[in-house]
Amino acid sequence: MTTKRVLVAYGSRHGATAGIASKIGRALREDGLDAVVLPADDVDDVRGFDAVVLGGSLYAGRWNGKALHCAERNEQYLKHRPVWLFSSGPVDSSAEQHEIPPVPAVARQMERLGAREHVTFGGSITAYTPGIIARALVRHGKGGDFRNSERIRTWAHHISGELATAA
Ligand SMILES: Cc1cc2nc3c(=O)[nH]c(=O)nc-3n(C[C@H](O)[C@H](O)[C@H](O)COP(=O)(O)O)c2cc1C
Repeated sequence: MTTKRVLVAYGSRHGATAGIASKIGRALREDGLDAVVLPADDVDDVRGFDAVVLGGSLYAGRWNGKALHCAERNEQYLKHRPVWLFSSGPVDSSAEQHEIPPVPAVARQMERLGAREHVTFGGSITAYTPGIIARALVRHGKGGDFRNSERIRTWAHHISGELATAA
């Protein structure tokens, strides 16, 4: 049996979503998959992959434009592959407490691509995140890293399980 190739692509402004994507890639590799992690901008052809995981950060209720364009650009090929989407994410514990549905543009992509699932992970804003709002949030104690490694890994292992069943 040949090793399945999985693309983990991400649209990230300040690195938090990139970190989630790299954790997903690592967990998929632990399961014996050939996982490649790439910025969504750098993805111009998904045909070399058996499955795709695509994630983007949320800003003012919108999914990262690079992730969205990646989905749109590759729609005709993504449609014929198993696809999982994720978003990052609330800078509080809400993503742990209940399922946070995809924002409308992501819900539309789910439909267009026939994506298997969407998950919202907690996000991260730190003192190193640029921007006035981020700085104000951190100053008022509202920042923090809410990326839950265990939850991210569990989801990635679940994807491996689904791909193994598909084989
Ligand atoms: C100005 C601003 C607006 C944000 N808007 C949202 C939002 O609408 N929904 C949400 O869940 N998170 C929101 N966040 C949190 C980010 O999505 C979170 O920090 C994310 O992990 C950043 O990922 P990135 O570094 O990969 O871009 C916002 C953060 C900032 C600084």
